[in-house]
Amino acid sequence: MSTVDHTWSDPRSRATEYRARSGSALDTIGNTPLVPMTRLTADTGVTILLKLEYFNPTGSYKDRMALAMVEQAERRGEITPGSTTIVEYTGGSTGSSLSFVCAVKGYRLLIVTSDAFSEEKIRTMTSMGAEVVIEPSVGGKITPDLMPRIIDRTRKLAEQPGTYWTDQFNNPDNALGQQTMGQEILAQTEGRVAAFVASVGTAGCAMGVATVLKAHDRAIEVHVVEPDTSAVISGGPAGTHGIEGIALGFVPPLLDRELVDDVIVVDEADARAMANRLATEEGIFAGTSTGANVVAALRLAAARPDLGTIVVPAVDSGLKYISTDLYPKPSLTIGN
Ligand SMILES: Cc1ncc(COP(=O)(O)O)c(C=O)c1O
Repeated sequence: MSTVDHTWSDPRSRATEYRARSGSALDTIGNTPLVPMTRLTADTGVTILLKLEYFNPTGSYKDRMALAMVEQAERRGEITPGSTTIVEYTGGSTGSSLSFVCAVKGYRLLIVTSDAFSEEKIRTMTSMGAEVVIEPSVGGKITPDLMPRIIDRTRKLAEQPGTYWTDQFNNPDNALGQQTMGQEILAQTEGRVAAFVASVGTAGCAMGVATVLKAHDRAIEVHVVEPDTSAVISGGPAGTHGIEGIALGFVPPLLDRELVDDVIVVDEADARAMANRLATEEGIFAGTSTGANVVAALRLAAARPDLGTIVVPAVDSGLKYISTDLYPKPSLTIGN
């Protein structure tokens, strides 16, 4: 009889951590891993740590802010499940996260989005019970007229009685929710972080993390990232690009320039190529905005080799982009 023991206990397993928790699926938000890039930084001698935010339950860091936007409104007594319909417009990540939070808490959710954003994100929302309104894009691109049309539609929906518009672009609870990422970065690096580099949509991530890092040490730098074809934070004109979730054609109201040390402008093709390199060379399967973040971080590292540890969010999962052309379509050989 075989005496082979088939059980295996990996010391890296998070099972104990999760077993010790109670409550609901909402408790799985946050506490994401922080891992060093290895091959892509090999020549530079710098340390770039990636905060793997795709470990969040819907596969992006937006779970943090969705939870905060809903729970802060609950705390203020502004919403209750059963009597409030939550309304939001989104490129898809926030919508997926809100769908998750609303499913757990029992809220009705109305989302306005566009076919400029990946089908996976829209299907995630409907799968978790959200009702979705699609504003048509021009050629599947994020053009400067798209967001104003989406916002207009949302505003009209939010005029209905019994609705609560989470209004992520103007809601400080968005940045508040992202403070947890900053707290984790400080704990995981034991405070030894020199810079944080993040692309900007609502600026919730950059501002939430910046608030925590700069409260710890004002010298920690925050670099925000935007595409060269719509570099409005740098003072350029709004333009067209295909990096989902960022650079929506206006300077986001939550962006506080006091908390920003520099703006790094990247080329979309470089961001896309970097997402592919991250997948094949680092095993980091993420989205285009993550590619943009890493392009910017590597440029910062090349210019300032003595800067110290740079932390970059791996914003979301590459699984959200399977239907897009970000990753190559396989040429499958069936049979022989
Ligand atoms: C894929 C992706 N990357 C980056 C961002 C930017 O994050 P923030 O809105 O916190 O600036 C978003 C926001 O929706 C996003 O969906």
